[in-house]
Amino acid sequence: MQVALVGLGVMGKNLALNLIEKGLTLVAYDTNPDAGAELLSCAQSLGLAERLHIVSDLGDMVRRLESPRSILLLVPAGELVDRVCVDLIEAGVSKEDIIVDCGNSNYKDGIARKLKYQNKFEFATMGISGGAEGARHGPAMMASGSEGGWERVEPWFEKVAASYNGDSCFARVGQSASGHFVKMVHNGIEYALMQLIAETYQLLRHGTGRSPKEVAAIFEQWSQGTLNSYLLSISSHILSLETTGTEPLVDLIDNKVGAKGTGLWTAQNALELGIAVPSLVAAVQARHLTNTIDTHAAKEMTYASKDTVAIDVDLDELKEAFYLASLLCYRQGLALIKGASRAHQWKVDLAKTLQTWRAGCIIRADYLDDIAQGVEFIDTLEKEASSLRKVTGLAIASGLAFPVLSSTQTYIATLSTPSNGHLVQAQRDYFGEHGIKTHSGETCHLTDLVEIDAKVR
Ligand code: 6PG
Repeated sequence: MQVALVGLGVMGKNLALNLIEKGLTLVAYDTNPDAGAELLSCAQSLGLAERLHIVSDLGDMVRRLESPRSILLLVPAGELVDRVCVDLIEAGVSKEDIIVDCGNSNYKDGIARKLKYQNKFEFATMGISGGAEGARHGPAMMASGSEGGWERVEPWFEKVAASYNGDSCFARVGQSASGHFVKMVHNGIEYALMQLIAETYQLLRHGTGRSPKEVAAIFEQWSQGTLNSYLLSISSHILSLETTGTEPLVDLIDNKVGAKGTGLWTAQNALELGIAVPSLVAAVQARHLTNTIDTHAAKEMTYASKDTVAIDVDLDELKEAFYLASLLCYRQGLALIKGASRAHQWKVDLAKTLQTWRAGCIIRADYLDDIAQGVEFIDTLEKEASSLRKVTGLAIASGLAFPVLSSTQTYIATLSTPSNGHLVQAQRDYFGEHGIKTHSGETCHLTDLVEIDAKVR
């Protein structure tokens, strides 16, 4: 067998089918024997069973693999990755073998594992996006590192990944565990785009009084043009669904939103690195807020229930605002990747990163071509910037909540209008003598520039 796969959950099973369909021979293992049996029956119905062998222990899996071995882990992130690695060492993997962690692992764990296992086997990392459908027919694959085994497995991944205009959406984007960092930021952008779409729906539904079906039609129309994206099209579909009682499906769904953690990690890393991604952070906190609305603590606070104000929004302006806000979510994510790459010396290639997002992943969108033109292009969109400003103003005036829309407007405004940072610098120095930097680049104190009236102190 050419390749092994450990973990036959939704992603593992579908990736396994994708691999054997592309001609590879695969040995697969899961602690749950039913998962193996299910995969085998899917492979049988596709007439591909002869390329698949299900094993019931890791020792058997290691013995059946051609050497040097190539093993993919699709197990839940966290401790389990280490447990499987230790079991694989006991099962007989050796130094030239490559083990690729394909889960949503934290990149910091990836860096630690590379060190921990360096004399045992080649530990490599790869983030995969696209859910079950992507894994089955072509996911986006964000890999990294320069482990020896990559040359062996790379051609396989190039084949199983999605492709866009003939180019594979698999790439080794940079050094070390940067692939997992890129996947983490992908998810941070995913949270922001999802929330931005939800806020646009909110504005149209509760601000302008349209039904979910009418909002679905607007999203559908936008999807016919440059705004076409996976997340917008699924949102349009969801909003168009009705229950048998003609109630919109969305009205049956509770408002609390869960999360597995990658959005939170994105926000944490951005804060630690000092890189501003307000729209991405707002999206994480928007989810947190949905979980606090009905809590005991929230109920104890006496918020008078306020009526919202009906607003009228120009749909062309809304479309322009939505377009620019979407680009700005990617712009922030890419800035975070660039900053982290510089800090960690990962040499992440942003063009390759965007190539992996072009098809197969959750944040795929036609306007990624526009984003590939760079920050300069985004910053020239004056008409859209004016629409974003206007729409955000209207949205806020409605009394409804727009955390990502307003954070995105704040982000672009901060970068393109006069700043107030000088006053904050001065405040810090006033009470803490932290020093100030002047326009000429000189570092000094307020008292070097002016005599301060002691009365104010
Ligand atoms: C993907 C998705 C995938 C998963 C997220 C969801 O790229 O295929 O991002 O990784 O859907 O983990 O994350 P939350 O559960 O945190 O929303």
